[in-house]
Order: sequence, then C-alpha cells, then structure tokens
Amino acid sequence: MIQPDSYTRSLLKRSPGETVTAHGWVKTRRDSKSVHFVQLNDGSSPVDLQVVLDAGVVPEDMVAKITTGACISVEGELVASPGKGQAVELKARALTLHGVADPEHYPLQKKKHTLETLREMGHLRTRSNTFGAVFRVRNALTVAIHKFFQDRGFLYVHTPVISSSDAEGAGSMFQVTTLDLEAVKPADFTQDFFGRRTYLTVSGQLEAEIFALAFANVYTFGPTFRAENSNTPRHLAEFYMIEPEMAFCDLKDNQDLAEAFLKSQIEQVLAACRPDLEFLNKWYEPELIRTLESLVSATFERMSYTEAIAQLQKSGKNFEFPTHWGADLQSEHERYLTEELVKRPVIVTDYPKEIKAFYMRANDDGKTVAAMDVLVPRIGEIIGGSQREERGDLLVERIRSHGMSEQPYWWYLDLRRFGGVAHAGFGMGFERMMMYLTGMKNIRDVVPFPRTPGSAEF
Ligand code: 4AD
Ligand code: MG
Repeated sequence: MIQPDSYTRSLLKRSPGETVTAHGWVKTRRDSKSVHFVQLNDGSSPVDLQVVLDAGVVPEDMVAKITTGACISVEGELVASPGKGQAVELKARALTLHGVADPEHYPLQKKKHTLETLREMGHLRTRSNTFGAVFRVRNALTVAIHKFFQDRGFLYVHTPVISSSDAEGAGSMFQVTTLDLEAVKPADFTQDFFGRRTYLTVSGQLEAEIFALAFANVYTFGPTFRAENSNTPRHLAEFYMIEPEMAFCDLKDNQDLAEAFLKSQIEQVLAACRPDLEFLNKWYEPELIRTLESLVSATFERMSYTEAIAQLQKSGKNFEFPTHWGADLQSEHERYLTEELVKRPVIVTDYPKEIKAFYMRANDDGKTVAAMDVLVPRIGEIIGGSQREERGDLLVERIRSHGMSEQPYWWYLDLRRFGGVAHAGFGMGFERMMMYLTGMKNIRDVVPFPRTPGSAEF
C-alpha cells in the first residue's frame, strides 16, 4: 500500500538525495540513446513524476513493455531536475513491472480523445489528466462541504435511500420492489418486501426536518434519484444532494446560509486544488479561476419571482419559452437573469404556490410561497430551497390542493402538532456545483459513473 509520504505528490516536494519508492501508471515514455524518461502518475497530483531510467538498469525487453498505461514501481534516488515543471526527478535503481498495457489495444494513448469518447471508457477515463483533476476536485469539495457544516455545529444525518414518501410530490420516482411483477397482477404491494410501495428517494428533506426538530441544525449529504426523462447536460438520474435543514430559521437566514455556503466551498477548493483548477482553466474554461474568485467577493443579488418575470419581460429577448406570471422559470430565463442582467449569482424568492412543492410556507399574499432558488452563471439553478409550512392546517390544505393524500404524511404533520417551529432549508446539487467549479459543460463528466436515461454501463 502507498503510504502518505510516498504518493508522487509528496515525492515531488522532497529533497534531492533521498532514496524513495514510487508507484503508479505510466503516462508516457521517451527514449534517447542511453536513457529512458518515464512520466509516472499515481492519481495524487496533476504533475507527473519523471523517472530517469538509464540504459542497463533493467533489460531492454522489459523497457519495451513500459508503455502508456502500464503499472510499475520504481526505487531510486531523488535528484534535482534540470527540466522545468518539477524540482526533482527519480533516478531509477530498480523497477518492477506489475501490469502491462499492450499499446496495440490500450485505448488511452497519447492521442487526445473527446469527452464523449472517454465516457464510453468509464473504467479507464479515471487515468486521464482531465478526470484526474475532476475527481480530485470532487474529493476536495466533499471535504469542504463537511467542514463548512461541522464548523457551524450542524449534525450530519444519514437519511434513507429507500423511501415510501414522495418528498417533492413530483412523481418521478424509481420503484423498489422484490415482487415478481410478471406473476403478481395487479401487483399487491402488501405482499412486497416492506409491505408497501417504496421508491428510491428524491430528497432527504422530509427526514432531515425530523432531525432539525430535535437537533436544530442538521444536513444530509447522500445520493438521490429522479426518474424524470430529462436527457440534458444538467440532469442525472442518480446524483448527490446536500440538504441543510435549520429550526428557528426563516427565508432570509436560509438565503444568507446558502450564500455563505457557496462562497466557502469555492474558497476551500481554490486553496486545496489550485493546480487542478489551473489545468481545467487552461483546457476547458478560460474564465474559470477568475469567475470563481469573483464569486467569493460578490454580493448575491436577491429578487422576487415577480420582479424576475418583470425583468424577463422587459429584456427584449426572444426566449424559446414565453414568460408570464405563474409560469416556471426555464433554464434560458435563469441564465439570462444571472449571466446578463446581474452578472453574478442571484437568489430568486417567493414563487407562485402552484409551481412549487407542497411543503413550502404560504406567504400572506395568498399567491406565493417562501421559496428560493440560487442561480449562478454558466449553470442556472444550483440550489433550491424554502421556508417550510409549519402551520398544520395550512399544510393539510397544501397537500390536498396538490392532489395528494395526507395519510402517508401523518408523521410529517405530527411534527407540526408537537413542538413545531419556523424552519427552513435547501438542497444543493453536488454535481451542479462540480460543474461550476470545474468548468465542465456536461454533468456526465463530473460524476464517477453517470446514470442517465438509457445509460448505466459502468
Ligand atoms: O430544487 P430541488 O428539486 O429541491 C429539493 O429536492 C428540495 N427537497 C431541497 C430542499 O429544500 N432540501 O433540488 C435541489 C437541487 C437543485 O437545485 C439542483 O442543483 C439539484 O438539486 N438537482 C439535480 N442535479 C442533477 N440532476 C438532477 N436530475 C437534479 N435535480 C435537482
Ligand atoms: Mg428546484
């Protein structure tokens, strides 16, 4: 096993003269008359460790097998590197070849593949420079999110993946069953594993509310599933969501937390992954680092849905979907607001009650609910949230007006009967944030194994 001080990331920082062993996969090999140069990478850094292999250290027929993709270990001495880009290189004394990668067949050769082609190679794209950078950022972002909430005393709660309630009331759920659906017609779900119909959860929010009404400030961070057939660059059928939920909290506090949360994530990842972000900036999004840095110092604009509609109508833009009060904002509208109108993140609040979920708190105007969506340039909606309806009678009304039955929500309604309080929360799509941070244009390229309509190979 590689110890923390022998990742290539650590070796690159150590002093000439030390004897070390490096492990990893070969990026490239270059040969001159009396010496071979091998670029070695173990995934810990975007910078390869250069191995200098003098002729004769290993037999030439073995050298021939040290090709792109092969797995090797090298023992030797770190020496000052004359080349630019790295302070030290490794002068090999001994080399072990663990696994060859026949150049005739190994698909990740020097030739640059498109991201679409790499998606077809879900088992190997992890070794490319691009996906090395993306998945290191993903790791750092996970840590940043936990740090943000832990520093504020939030309790991390694991909400269930299998659920019997539709948290969003949107009906786009994957069913979970052990029934032989061919044999049981019509299906009798009392005979099913849980004695009822169950689904993969679309959100941990309702369960997070249970915890918020006991631990005050909590958050979830787990997989969520949506069976909507949206084959877009921004939708996955399986994605991670972070959902903080806070008791003693209204919509204003909720917006403040969302703004601080986004800024903190960016600040932390900028500090942790600078070389990776520079790589992504160079190859994928020329404005990446500049826009990330400017978000950290920007004040987010805040506007009501009603004002957003007014702005869209006087924009003079020819949108594909027309805007009118009562219609949901489409991606093109969201992007206009954040990219062109205010040119920074914007939090849109107080949407018409008809287009938002049943649990959102009714405003006094009788028409809108205390909802909020955070929109950022390049992505559109990155966060959706609300203050929750804590008044039991109004909640029952909302459930009914959404054409839902209140029975399955009995425990949710109980939370309003026993020790209820104003509370609010939001959900951030982890992969949407990853797109924002990496500059990747397709959500399939920021998730290890994308699940989208018709696609679940790896
Ligand atoms: O706006 P949504 O549907 O809100 C909820 O699920 C609430 N229960 C959150 C809460 O208040 N606790 O989803 C929240 C976020 C969206 O803003 C978006 O970033 C992301 O989740 N999201 C998706 N990301 C990828 N693929 C999909 N299919 C997504 N659907 C939502
Ligand atoms: Mg939403």
